[in-house]
Amino acid sequence: MARTLPYADMDKILSISKRRGFVFQSSEIYGGLGSTWDYGPLGVELKRHVKEAWWRSVVLDRDDMVGLDAAILMHPQVWVASGHVENFTDPLVECRSCNRRFRLDHLAEAAGIEMDPANPAKSLEALACPDCGGELGDPRQFNLMFKTFMGPVEETASEVHLRPETAQGIFVNFANVVNSTRKKLPFGIAQIGKAFRNEITPGNFTFRTREFEQMEIEYFVKPGTDEEWLQRWVQSRLDWYVEYGIRRENLRLRQHGSDELAHYAKDCYDIEYRFPWGWAELEGIASRTDYDLRQHAEHSGQDLTYFDEETKSRYFPYVVEPSGGLDRGVLAFWLDSYDEEPDGEAVRVVCRLHRKLAPVTVAVLPLSRNAKLVPAAQDVHARLRRHFTTQYDDAQGIGRRYRRQDEIGTPYCVTVDFDSLEDHQVTIRDRDTMHQSRIPIDELVFVLQDKVEHGW
Ligand code: GAP
Repeated sequence: MARTLPYADMDKILSISKRRGFVFQSSEIYGGLGSTWDYGPLGVELKRHVKEAWWRSVVLDRDDMVGLDAAILMHPQVWVASGHVENFTDPLVECRSCNRRFRLDHLAEAAGIEMDPANPAKSLEALACPDCGGELGDPRQFNLMFKTFMGPVEETASEVHLRPETAQGIFVNFANVVNSTRKKLPFGIAQIGKAFRNEITPGNFTFRTREFEQMEIEYFVKPGTDEEWLQRWVQSRLDWYVEYGIRRENLRLRQHGSDELAHYAKDCYDIEYRFPWGWAELEGIASRTDYDLRQHAEHSGQDLTYFDEETKSRYFPYVVEPSGGLDRGVLAFWLDSYDEEPDGEAVRVVCRLHRKLAPVTVAVLPLSRNAKLVPAAQDVHARLRRHFTTQYDDAQGIGRRYRRQDEIGTPYCVTVDFDSLEDHQVTIRDRDTMHQSRIPIDELVFVLQDKVEHGW
């Protein structure tokens, strides 16, 4: 279905978000907590469906992948070995007048200045505080990891970090997974989970926050085949976003320059989305070589090599890492689905979310609150809710209810009317075409399952 708008206006999404229950400000009754967000009743379903679509695509539909759910808290040595204690930093500058803090690289980028990472202070000469125009202080490296204490005593020895990426949980379990699954190279481990970063300048709604979820894969390959696998994963991950509804023209690939590669990466491509404020990263696909396994082997004293039965040799596999942000994915799918079309004198707002991602898959609507219609509609709802994410709505006129479902992206509405009581059929209405068809109630589950799987 061709969409009218090239992309959504952030304010419109924010308005739907709060009004309809997608995302709320965290701790709102206390004035909120900077850049932390809570997913409401609809947001949590949208997010769950994005996770399910990802898990199906990268784990369940493949023979070469398995899943993992590692703990957020890990041994402190993990972050020393991974290089995060030393290198997971951003250049921070503080305004000498208003004391606001900024990421120097963000300020330089906004001003169109090329920052020299070896000499960040040099870019300061051309910069001033974007808020008050004041002079900026000397830059310093700020570590983004959150710290907390394990156990009752708050001392250095009990310090642990909240993980800044889920990836390390996969690396430290590499040998466990190989030994328990007998997986042979190439194979990958996938994980969805929370990550925490004490970002200097969070913002743009759920795009950059201090607590977020990642969907990460560590894909282990024979050294020498890593370049080929990097290209395969870049294509496969790009295709996934398009398959689930993001228009190709709103996505682009960007290869990292050598000066912006993370400390562990040899090569990296970002999949970027055209957010309302400009192109920005949705997912990074990095070539991490054998950096992490080598580091953990060295620091833990454990053998993390792989025994290759073909060549009868032991080596550290190389790693290709597709790492996506779940919250950013949710935001991009949602923004890209937003559409408006003329509806007589009015405007129909419709979120054309992919049918497998929409928070509500099927809405059941009795034509009215008539005493005979309500039990019939509730019976239909009871049949459907075991198979789909459903919503029952009988408040206000049917036209308004259709519009409400359009706005939240519900692909199918099932209407129970007076004829249903006689002919045991209901009407299915399609969100995008607004086409309606009569279906026997006994065939409803099957017909809807077919539609969800294959579309109209
Ligand atoms: N393990 C590799 C890694 O963590 P990254 O590029 O730092 O790589 C991966 O993060 C993804 O996590 C990003 O592409 C982005 O979608 C998401 N992400 C990173 N920082 C984020 C933040 N502060 N808020 C929301 N999502 C974030």
